[in-house]
Amino acid sequence: MDLSITRSENLKPKPNDAKLGFGTLFTDHMLNMDYSLEGGWQAARIEPYGSIEMDPATMFLHYGQGVFEGLKAYRTDSGQIQLFRPQENFKRLNRSCRRMCIPEIDEDFALESLKQLISLEKDWVPGAPETSLYIRPTIVAMDPFLGVRASHTYRYFVILSPVGAYYPEGFNPVKILVTSELVRAVRGGVGEAKTPGNYAASLLAGERAHEAGYTQVLWLDGVEQKYLEEVGAMNIFFVIDDEIITPELNGSILPGVTRKSVIALAKHWNQKVTERKISLDEIIDAHAAGSLKEAFGSGTAAVISPVGEIKSGDNVITINNNQTGPVAQKLYDAITGIQYGKAEDPLGWVVPVA
Ligand SMILES: Cc1ncc(COP(=O)(O)O)c(C=O)c1O
Repeated sequence: MDLSITRSENLKPKPNDAKLGFGTLFTDHMLNMDYSLEGGWQAARIEPYGSIEMDPATMFLHYGQGVFEGLKAYRTDSGQIQLFRPQENFKRLNRSCRRMCIPEIDEDFALESLKQLISLEKDWVPGAPETSLYIRPTIVAMDPFLGVRASHTYRYFVILSPVGAYYPEGFNPVKILVTSELVRAVRGGVGEAKTPGNYAASLLAGERAHEAGYTQVLWLDGVEQKYLEEVGAMNIFFVIDDEIITPELNGSILPGVTRKSVIALAKHWNQKVTERKISLDEIIDAHAAGSLKEAFGSGTAAVISPVGEIKSGDNVITINNNQTGPVAQKLYDAITGIQYGKAEDPLGWVVPVA
């Protein structure tokens, strides 16, 4: 498919790399592509960043038929710009599309067109330590229609946002709260798809956790409210004795690219790593027995987020003395080392942009 490029005539001033936050600034250009039943995906174009006009009846606005992704581009010390396993994000985008009745996109074209967009915006990729260019591919249903059915037209777009270090003050363990009445996802639902409604569904529990002084919610399964699923918008890992364990993918857990990378690296290091059901009771018992060594979340934003405290009802457990453990630290160093080109890439994950 052809990709046309229209350059912006009004380039914005670039921000100070040392003062970047998350998700507030956007680059000069975006990628757009449209779908219709007759023409399929077509009219791929890089053009100046701008609003998307929507009829008030646009189906996405009413029924949330949409999917998105989140990944980053990194600048290495030598100035090279690179992506981390972007093929995994486009595979997941298409898996989310299948669940949400959205026509899939060509993954090779998605990657090639993303590389072109980033090449055009390369001066927006920040270079200060731990900063990056956050990438948000999105698909939304565009039919102006109020009936409930899958849309016949869609817009695919990609926007780019320079983002700051996730840990400007260093790598500190977070406190997390188990929610017992609200659930994020249910069996047979859309939990494994990266679709907007999952994030709307998580807000109330997140607000309650913040009010109680906790950073994130530890989600239990939506059926028995017994098994651990995710932490905030991250996957969750535990170290029990010398084994790394994480909940198995069950349809309601988002299959994280960082999760997959943690599992692959741990196996590469010949460390025991197991995907299985993990109940909250098991974690509480392991803590009481002294065998729960570490807990941490994994995701693109934070990479690894150590968990120092878990509260469930009146039960409060402190993990590893509220300190970052050696497994979390080693994984963080290894993954960020690969992403920023400071360490070898033993599993071939890095994709250069230009
Ligand atoms: C609900 C949820 N779980 C887990 C993750 C972690 O996925 P990844 O490692 O691909 O960023 C994310 C972030 O994308 C998420 O939104």
